[in-house]
Amino acid sequence: MTNKLWSGRFTKPTHPGVEQYTASITFDHALAMEDILGSLAHAGMLHHSGMLSAQEQNEISQGLTRIAHKIQAGEVAFSTQDEDIHMNIERLLSEDIGPAAGKLHTARSRNDQVALDVHLYLRKQLLVTVDLLTQLQTTLLQLAREHRQIIVPGYTHLQRAQPIYLAKHWLAYVAMLGRDCARLISSWPRVNQSPLGAAALTGTTFSVDKHYVAKELAFDGIYLNSLDAVSDRDFVIEFIAAASLIMMHLSRLSEELVMWSSQEFNFVHFDDAFSTGSSIMPQKKNPDVVELGRGKTARVYGALMAMLTLLKGLPLAYNKDLQEDKEPLFDVVNTVQQTLSIYIPALSTLHINVDVMRQAVQEGYLNATALAEYLVKKGVPFRKAHEVVGKMVAHCVQKQCRLEELTLAEMQAFFPEFTKEVYAALDLDGIATACNQELDKELLMLEREVKANQGWMAEKQAVVSKVYVKYGLG
Ligand code: ARG
Repeated sequence: MTNKLWSGRFTKPTHPGVEQYTASITFDHALAMEDILGSLAHAGMLHHSGMLSAQEQNEISQGLTRIAHKIQAGEVAFSTQDEDIHMNIERLLSEDIGPAAGKLHTARSRNDQVALDVHLYLRKQLLVTVDLLTQLQTTLLQLAREHRQIIVPGYTHLQRAQPIYLAKHWLAYVAMLGRDCARLISSWPRVNQSPLGAAALTGTTFSVDKHYVAKELAFDGIYLNSLDAVSDRDFVIEFIAAASLIMMHLSRLSEELVMWSSQEFNFVHFDDAFSTGSSIMPQKKNPDVVELGRGKTARVYGALMAMLTLLKGLPLAYNKDLQEDKEPLFDVVNTVQQTLSIYIPALSTLHINVDVMRQAVQEGYLNATALAEYLVKKGVPFRKAHEVVGKMVAHCVQKQCRLEELTLAEMQAFFPEFTKEVYAALDLDGIATACNQELDKELLMLEREVKANQGWMAEKQAVVSKVYVKYGLG
């Protein structure tokens, strides 16, 4: 006979292959602390609503706390026979305190239990992710401050276009990561809500106090509809979608850094501590970190597709398919957090080849647009100015010289309105300054935004960790 917690109606033991196939303990053990936290609050609610005596609640809570400490100390071996983290912990509890353990699952199902665990897990990971995002933004802001006066080519179509400050390039990524932060922050109310009390699908005949548990666990609210509470994972998809955009932004940055560190560009090089070598070519120094960041973007997108597809055909309410939400979610959380964590030191130690960048700005007629604008300021229609400068560029390409190397007479042969002030208009630093009068303001505003997001994160972090400390799991 079987000794499963649900074995009552069965006459045969489970086939070992089925046990292996259906078990989730090999990965959902990551929810252990959240499962125990949820059970501690649930036991409190059962007592508060008259379903557990004070003594029973005490026994259960003390047993759960002992198990939590054993798990934290690495002293617990979970078993696939008990399928998942919920039943493993219930089994451990019954071994620890005896029959009183059997009362814990009153007015609860694993369906609302697992949904609760995932909400608790994700809100913690969301805060860690916001923290790391703002740290990477701070690193990029530091680079922007250091490189405030360095001019580099700005590109369109990967062709040199106009001179820009290197600071502006870094700030573009600060702004992107800022929107990524905002996306995570705006999903908070949907992550921080409690599904507990939904039980299997429609509640139970007990009158449970859902708000009691929500308040104990510092949730902002509860799910109103019980079928919805146990069967949706939209909050998981929302996180993975936000993570996909984070990785997309990091992947673009990675691609640029791979190019910029090539010998062809030679704009930057990674510190030796953040580069890797080749097993055969002794001279090689490879940008593996950012290549992997670019590569790992693929698995995060894969997780997004997996989750959207997982949910699309499921009838209400809970289906076992939903167990497949965990591996993609855990993998995304790890991938994004590891990537952000390693990019912070890899970027703060990046070496910049200022001279090469300067040289690159001087080649390729990056001041041509400013030259056309010079003529426009003299009353020439833009289209005409564009054509004149285009002809001048073609002439210079043939002569193999720069626009500023033409004499005034040569310029006037293209258009009589040129005066000697044209040389100031062609000055690369002058152009970069004129185009970027708002750059310092932009830097300050982004700095302020990062600080505000860090403040938000610290405030939520304090509330969440208070809950763990209160229940002895801090
Ligand atoms: N391990 C399951 C999961 O992750 C827990 C819920 C199981 N519920 C059930 N009715 N079998 O989804």
